[in-house]
Amino acid sequence: MTLQAPKGTFDWLPPRSERALAVREALTAPARRAGYGYIETPVFEDTALFVRGVGESTDIVSKEMYTFEDKGGRSITLRPEGTASVVRAVLQHGLHNGQLPVKLWYSGSQFRYERAQKGRYRHFWQVGAEALGSEDPALDAELILLAVDGYAALGLTGVRLLINTLGDRECRPVYRAALQDFLRGLDLDEPTRQRIEINPLRVLDDKRPEVQERLAGAPLVVDHLCGACKAYHEEVRSLLTASGVAYTDDPRLVRGLDYYTRTTFEFVHDGLGSQSAVGGGGRYDGLSEMLGGPALPSVGWALGVDRTVLAMEAEGLFPGDGEQARVQVYGVPLGEEARRRMFLLVTELRRAGLAADMSFGGKGVKGAMKGADRSGASHAVILGERDIAAGTAQVKDLVSGEQAAVPLAEIVMTLKERLDK
Ligand code: HAM
Repeated sequence: MTLQAPKGTFDWLPPRSERALAVREALTAPARRAGYGYIETPVFEDTALFVRGVGESTDIVSKEMYTFEDKGGRSITLRPEGTASVVRAVLQHGLHNGQLPVKLWYSGSQFRYERAQKGRYRHFWQVGAEALGSEDPALDAELILLAVDGYAALGLTGVRLLINTLGDRECRPVYRAALQDFLRGLDLDEPTRQRIEINPLRVLDDKRPEVQERLAGAPLVVDHLCGACKAYHEEVRSLLTASGVAYTDDPRLVRGLDYYTRTTFEFVHDGLGSQSAVGGGGRYDGLSEMLGGPALPSVGWALGVDRTVLAMEAEGLFPGDGEQARVQVYGVPLGEEARRRMFLLVTELRRAGLAADMSFGGKGVKGAMKGADRSGASHAVILGERDIAAGTAQVKDLVSGEQAAVPLAEIVMTLKERLDK
C-alpha cells in the first residue's frame, strides 16, 4: 500500500485549495485594513510556553500536544494555537515598549492531537489577530467586528456570534468558589469531580446531556461580576449593538484555554455538525504576566480556516468553481522545433501577465488538445512545422472554435488584446 497522510490530517488539493487561500485572504483583510501588522512565529516552541500560557489543566495541554524531545534534549511542542507565541514574540522583541496597542495578525498551521472527525483535525489552519497592551472595550468590539466583516465578505450568512465575560482577578475567584460549592454537591463521576478542583468552569462545558441536566441551576459568572467587569462588558455589548452586530449572550460560554479574562466570544455555524465553532477569542489580560512579562491587557481571536471553508460549502457558496479555468492560454506544439518555440512563447505570454500553460511530454495533437480542453483555457496556440516555416501560429478560440493564423511576433499582443478585458 502507498503511504497515506497521518490520521487526522488531510491535503489541500487544487481546485479546492483555492478556497482555503480565498478564506485566508478574506478573513485577514479587515484586520490588515485596521492597521494590524503581519507576524510569523515558529511552528514549534519550547513546551513551557504552552504549559504556562494555555494552562496545564486544559485539554490542549494535558492531552493534545505534539511534544517531543529534540536532539539537544529540549522539550519542544508543535504549536496548538497562536496567542501564546505572539505574546512571547512581543515580549522577546520589546514591541510593547512602543505604541500601544501592538496590533498583529497571523496565519498558519496548528497541531492538536484530537479525536479526528469532520471539522476536527490534528493539523489545521487558523488565521488570528491580537491587540496587545490596551484595556479598552472598543478594542474588544473592534476585533469582534473585524471577524464579523471577514465572514460577511465571504458571503456567509449563517455565522452566529456568542459572547460572554469571565470576570477578572477580582471577581473570578469569588465566582469560581461559588461554582465549586455548587458542583461538589452534584452526583458526578470521578474525572469530573477532579475537574471541579482544577478547572471548574470547564465542567460547565461538559457535552453529556445527563451532566447538563444536573448543571441547570449552576451559578453564572454574570451574577458574580464586579462593578468594573460589569461596566466593561456593557460597553463592549453597546458598541457591538451600535455597529449593527447581532449577538447572543451565552452565560455558559467557556473557552478551552485558561488565559481568558473578561470578554470571551465564539462564532458558530450550524452547517458543521458537532464541530460548530468557526472561530473564537477573547481578552487575556494576565497572559503576559504568566509568561514573565509586564501587565499587558490584550484581546484577540483565531478563526478556523478549514472550518470556514466547510461552512461556506454548507451554504453552497462555491458554485461551479471546480470548472474554473486553470489558465487562459494553452500551447499545443507539434514536433521538436515547435516545442522549443512554444516554450519561449509561453514564457513571453506569462511575462506579459497572461496565465498560460502548454502541453508537455511530446503528446500528439489529440492528446495536446485534450490538455487544452482540461486546462479550461479559452484560447489555444497551435504550432506545427508548416506554421514555423510561415512564421505564424494558429490561434484557436476554444469557445467558438474559430481559428486563424497570426504572425509569431504578434501572438502576445493579439492574445493580450483579446483577454485583458
Ligand atoms: P480556539 O477556540 O482553540 O482558540 O481555536 C479557534 C478556532 O480554531 C476554532 O473556533 C476552530 O474554528 C479552529 N479549530 C480549533 N481546533 C480545531 C481542530 N482540531 N480542527 C479544525 N479547526 C480547529 C484559539 O486557538 C485561541 N488562540 C484564540 C484566541 C486568540 N484567543 C485570543 N486570541
